[in-house]
Amino acid sequence: MKAQVESLRTAALGALAELETLKELEEFRVRYLGKKGEVTALLRGMGAVPAEERPAMGQLINQLRSELESALEAKETALSSLQKAAQLKAETLDVTMPGKAQTTGGLHPLNIVLADLIDIFQSMGFDVVDGPEVETDHYCFEALNVPKDHPARDMQDTFYLGENLLLRTQTSAAQIRTMEQRKPPIRIICPGRVFRADEVDATHSPVFHQVEGLVVDKNITMCDLKGVLEQFAHEIYGPDTKVRFRPSFFPFTEPSVEVDVSCSACGGTGCRVCKGNGWIEILGAGMVHPNVLAGCGIDPEVYSGFAFGIGLDRLTTTRYKISDIRLLFENDQRFLEQFNG
Ligand code: DAH
Repeated sequence: MKAQVESLRTAALGALAELETLKELEEFRVRYLGKKGEVTALLRGMGAVPAEERPAMGQLINQLRSELESALEAKETALSSLQKAAQLKAETLDVTMPGKAQTTGGLHPLNIVLADLIDIFQSMGFDVVDGPEVETDHYCFEALNVPKDHPARDMQDTFYLGENLLLRTQTSAAQIRTMEQRKPPIRIICPGRVFRADEVDATHSPVFHQVEGLVVDKNITMCDLKGVLEQFAHEIYGPDTKVRFRPSFFPFTEPSVEVDVSCSACGGTGCRVCKGNGWIEILGAGMVHPNVLAGCGIDPEVYSGFAFGIGLDRLTTTRYKISDIRLLFENDQRFLEQFNG
């Protein structure tokens, strides 16, 4: 029996040394020290041992048990610290690695400028109105004093969708829709997309943007037009910007003007942005033609008004020194990201 105890010790300690996981360790515990384990079996076998040897044998077996127990405990400690180390290694976090940047969306440069523009006109008491991009010949031309055979139609190459239906070439159509719906005093702006059959190049796009403006009331004069548009130009381009009114022609205004501002890139000395002449044209305007007022049921003997059409794309390209209008429409992230924040 003594030899049996001895060989169990050798076998058990040998097996323990080989164990690699905590699961195997648990199996070991059951196999040797469990209720039905091999050490317990030895104790059970004591009945066959002569009575005088029993105390010594009992002691021997108990010694083996506690020896195995403490060896098991030591192994358990060793295995769990190994396991912990492996886990830490697997979960290593390199805190010096660059993080994944969260990109936030931003406004398109046209919308940034439009928001400023709306702020400026709202602070002067203008409402913002909307109008359809698909218009009738009536609203886009006829009611704006441009009859079917009028040579001014050649100024704008129109996309026709049918005999009387077209993509609006100008936001001026909003003037008519507004005057049909509202009574003076009227102060509105109408921003929107317009369409012309133009060849695409650095300064032309078949789709671009205008902001129409209309003021109708009693005693509105050219002074009001100049005051409002000068104020607008100074707020957009800065108070030192020079503003120039040039005589021009539009069928729906009389008299008509075009408005230039001194080039913000060169201060008026001439550069690439202003094509060397020191001025940038930003809008067309004029006193609303009596025919237009009368056509909308507003008596031109009682009321007068002024209107203007601002080129939003030009305003944006000059403000940000964008050399090619196509950049505004291509949605290239690398371009658009420069306007965020
Ligand atoms: N609609 C004109 C254009 O597209 C711009 C314009 C000029 C609008 C004079 C107006 C205006 O309201 O009064 O060129």
